[in-house]
Amino acid sequence: MEITTFLPQAYTENIDNGTVTWKSPSNIALIKYWGKKEDQIPQNPSISFTLDACATTTKLSYKKHAEKNDDFSFDLFFEGKQKDDFKPKINTFLKRVESYLLFLKDYHFTIETSNSFPHSSGIASSASGMSALALCLMSLEKELNPTMTDEFFNQKASFLARLGSGSASRSIEGDLIVWGTHEDTIGSSDLFGIKYPYKVHEVFKNYHDTILLVDKGEKQVSSTVGHNLMHNHPFAEQRFAQAHKNLTKIQSVLADGDLDEFIAIVESEALTLHAMMMTSMPYFILMKPNTLEIINRIWKFRQESGTHICFTLDAGANVHILYPENEKDEIYPFIQEELVKFCQNGHHICDRIGFGAKKA
Ligand code: PMV
Repeated sequence: MEITTFLPQAYTENIDNGTVTWKSPSNIALIKYWGKKEDQIPQNPSISFTLDACATTTKLSYKKHAEKNDDFSFDLFFEGKQKDDFKPKINTFLKRVESYLLFLKDYHFTIETSNSFPHSSGIASSASGMSALALCLMSLEKELNPTMTDEFFNQKASFLARLGSGSASRSIEGDLIVWGTHEDTIGSSDLFGIKYPYKVHEVFKNYHDTILLVDKGEKQVSSTVGHNLMHNHPFAEQRFAQAHKNLTKIQSVLADGDLDEFIAIVESEALTLHAMMMTSMPYFILMKPNTLEIINRIWKFRQESGTHICFTLDAGANVHILYPENEKDEIYPFIQEELVKFCQNGHHICDRIGFGAKKA
């Protein structure tokens, strides 16, 4: 599909004002996106579980100006308080999506947003935040052009969310989303996320993700800096090729419910992401001592218990613990007794696989 697909048609309706609210989830990548080309085009395809509990709720109120403005006009409230320091990020996003949403300078917007997870928990809010805002803007576009299909609505919401934050393109629907062109995944695109189109074994329904908040500080390396480190990285090409291969490999794993192979792919992907940052110039170690302690304990417990607990990591120190529903009674007590003590103030979030954003 071409980018031009997302250029707007002439609007048929005239809308003066209104309000829309979307709750959009975060997601956790099994095969990681790390490295991008211009215009938020990923260097490799990725696949993620959509989450359920970790979400951003955004209310967009819009009021038409008497005349089109020269600039974007909006107020931003985060958890009830005016938050001007978030405005430049939104402004950049609006600039990036401007040619796809012709109405942006026609309205004054009030954006009221809040997260279900604690602020500065180290959980990236960009995926849920950008997808929630993209969905709100799409709802307004649908009012202006009511003949839009649901399929197009979701595709364009993902397309716009991607321009805010790459991983946000995977937060519109659920429960497994692929983003990035992959020759073995029919319908896959660099421009937007798609629902994983193949068979998924029962064991992956209701999968758990318990997120251990090891370090709640500001991200040591922002995504933007991190993605840039993949330019001229000595191992970049091999890494991108590996992601393609892993996405092919995970297809039979997802179909057959082969948890041992699932674990091998998912943990290797997490460690590879961190290895890329350790071997870039400049180089970073994003794990903390407690991250490693948790990983070692997970490995020991897995061996002793014969369960299928495994971990994945984002570009930070927090640990996502993945496990199937039918093993939760054995695994969750272990997490509580042996792992939660390595979290800052014992903070952890019990999440699970989810089915995408919802309009309130
Ligand atoms: O969406 P961004 O630009 O913040 O990138 C996030 C990338 C990772 O979370 C580290 C991996 C992924 O695929 O989500």
